[in-house]
Amino acid sequence: MLKRFIRNLFSERGDDYTFYRSNGSDFTFLERAGLYVHIPFCRNKCPYCPYYKINYDRDKAYKFKESLLKEIKEYGHKFKYRTVNSIYFGGGTPTLLINEIPDILKNIDKYFNIEGEIALETNPAEITKNLVIKLRKMNFSLISLGVQSFQQKFLDTLGRKYTVKTTEKAVELLVNGGFNTINIDLMFVLPNQNIKDIEYDIDKALSLGVDQITFYPLFTFPYTSVGKLKKLKNIGLPNHYRRKKMYYYIYKRMKKEGFRQTSVWSFNRYGNKTYSSVTRDYYLGFGPGAASYNGKGFYFNVFSVDEYIKMIDDKLPIVLKMSVSNRMAKLFWLYWRFYETYVPVGRYRDLFKSDLYTDFGKLLKFIEMAGFARRNNDILELTIRGSYYIHLIQNYFALNYINKIWDKSWGNVKPDNISL
Ligand SMILES: C[S@@+](CC[C@H](N)C(=O)[O-])C[C@H]1O[C@@H](n2cnc3c(N)ncnc32)[C@H](O)[C@@H]1O
Ligand code: SF4
Repeated sequence: MLKRFIRNLFSERGDDYTFYRSNGSDFTFLERAGLYVHIPFCRNKCPYCPYYKINYDRDKAYKFKESLLKEIKEYGHKFKYRTVNSIYFGGGTPTLLINEIPDILKNIDKYFNIEGEIALETNPAEITKNLVIKLRKMNFSLISLGVQSFQQKFLDTLGRKYTVKTTEKAVELLVNGGFNTINIDLMFVLPNQNIKDIEYDIDKALSLGVDQITFYPLFTFPYTSVGKLKKLKNIGLPNHYRRKKMYYYIYKRMKKEGFRQTSVWSFNRYGNKTYSSVTRDYYLGFGPGAASYNGKGFYFNVFSVDEYIKMIDDKLPIVLKMSVSNRMAKLFWLYWRFYETYVPVGRYRDLFKSDLYTDFGKLLKFIEMAGFARRNNDILELTIRGSYYIHLIQNYFALNYINKIWDKSWGNVKPDNISL
């Protein structure tokens, strides 16, 4: 019911939320976009993880890299010297290909005009002094580390194959590595976790000097190992009451520590650059399962390393596209600004050449009257209540959609259509 309510709030008659088969031949690149490179390999697959990845294999990783270079070249020829305002390496575990990344960056640099930050996410078991030196040499400036918890019992529950000692050492090496921002991911609403446990994790993170913390409640996706074990049909959501209590604790504590909220789940020390891989206006994704968005459509690459390697020999590895109407594009933009916790009203005017309140007056009035946001000159800011509810919407709405695409695409690498 909530899903239908949210959907009605956000869409109108004629909006078609369906992905159809596409080879991406109509893909256009607008003035500037963020690049995302998906490295789909992990050494140990975590049972709860929904992201597209396979077990690391040296030969396959090498073939994958060769295909990735072909994909970059293909787009590079089509959109030579367009400006790229950030590059994010995600996964999977991108550092498993650390010795291949210089070649990947060199090829991106050959075809695109790179401005902005180069960022990467990884896992504590990967971090050594040598790796930190290599990352600095390649000009990575934002790093995100999937810590999840500083307590062994929770790492064990999650099936993470490293110790707390390894985690703390990894954070120390990164914090002293000369990067702009070190983000760590922490999880909450874990089985048997209480507020004291969260307090402990935050204390530890602050004492180690991290610049940004991103807090994720643990979701159980139906198609992950845990989801299959529990025979889930829909995403398993953490307990509402515990989640709300924990979320409010995190929010108030991080503000008290002088951190700035940069998304519904991230808090950043004032003055630091924000690590955020999902909030670009437009983006181009390379690698299997990567998504691209250019304001006119969402495109998905095939969700299989083998198919990706096969397809790239004669065409782009895109298999799905959802067309986006002008109104949908405005809504997506608005949604991501709420996700970032504030909406710059003037920027909407510049981008869409129309007035935000004329286009979405009813929706915004509802949001303001419900106490979810307040207007402060040219900015519409989320309140703590709004922040909690947008994080709920992110769960119910976005994750249900993402879940549907990922679930169907894993089952059938070339589906004819996926209706959301
Ligand atoms: C691609 S993973 C992180 C990078 C790296 N592979 C790692 O595991 O440390 C991005 C983050 O998503 C979060 N995450 C993964 N599965 C999740 C789930 N089922 N529910 C909530 N957050 C999840 C974790 O906090 C993780 O650090
Ligand atoms: S959470 Fe990270 S390390 Fe674990 S399977 Fe997912 S991408 Fe791999």
